[in-house]
Amino acid sequence: MNEKVLIICESIYHGNTHKLAVAMARKLNCRLITCEQAISENIQQYKIIGLGSGIYFTSHHPKLFNIVSRMENMQKAFLFSTHGRPFLGKYHESLKLALSKQGVTIIGEFSCRGYDCTGPYIIVGGGNKGKPNEKDQKKVAKFVARLLPEYSKNTDVVQNGNNIEIHYDECIGCGKCKTICPMKVFDIKNKKPIVINENDCIHCSLCKEQCPSQAIVIQHSWKEAIAIAKRHSKKNSL
Ligand SMILES: Cc1cc2nc3c(=O)[nH]c(=O)nc-3n(C[C@H](O)[C@H](O)[C@H](O)COP(=O)(O)O)c2cc1C
Ligand code: SF4
Ligand code: SF4
Repeated sequence: MNEKVLIICESIYHGNTHKLAVAMARKLNCRLITCEQAISENIQQYKIIGLGSGIYFTSHHPKLFNIVSRMENMQKAFLFSTHGRPFLGKYHESLKLALSKQGVTIIGEFSCRGYDCTGPYIIVGGGNKGKPNEKDQKKVAKFVARLLPEYSKNTDVVQNGNNIEIHYDECIGCGKCKTICPMKVFDIKNKKPIVINENDCIHCSLCKEQCPSQAIVIQHSWKEAIAIAKRHSKKNSL
């Protein structure tokens, strides 16, 4: 476990920002806690702290400002957020200002859209559906890998289909993916799953959802959805 880096995330609305935080904590092999948990922690012992939340009324969550007030000027921070509106604008500015007043060095920032049902989105039943998605989670993992290469785990994909990835460094070899997959896409070799017929995959995500160590990533796209529909129409025709 990385003892130098800590991630603190307040994700109160739909857990959108939490998804980014999990991807980063996984990449950095570091702890991820909420502001509530951070109250009883000696956060000064960490060299670098990642601070993130959804954007609420044009700013990060107020609890993060309390955290910043306890940081010291030798510490470094990176910021992250998810926001509902099309543009990020100056949403990070107030937290950045608080950090610089505290003498904390800001080393980077990341933001992407998150599912939002507020304001004008009510009319259309919510905006940015499914966001942050797997692509965003990959992006944020890359962001921290570039920012802190010395602390980043090598999460190279060992088994990589076109759209199915198995992260062997996370996989515990339980075989659940093989058992659960309705299309028999996986086999187990040397106690690890391998993709044997990706063409049959219907992107149901059962394998991903049942994997106890979040080792599977399925890349969804319109192109693939259409390809699946075509394959099935052929299979079902006489
Ligand atoms: C009370 C409230 C206020 C919000 N204000 C903004 C805003 O000012 N700008 C914006 O882009 N999104 C705004 N949003 C949308 C959230 O930033 C977005 O849904 C975000 O992904 C929520 O993250 P979370 O699920 O981690 O809490 C607001 C959402 C809520 C609930
Ligand atoms: S997404 Fe569904 S069909 Fe595809 S490999 Fe996973 S369980 Fe099998
Ligand atoms: S379910 Fe996950 S952990 Fe278990 S074998 Fe499959 S990929 Fe590995």
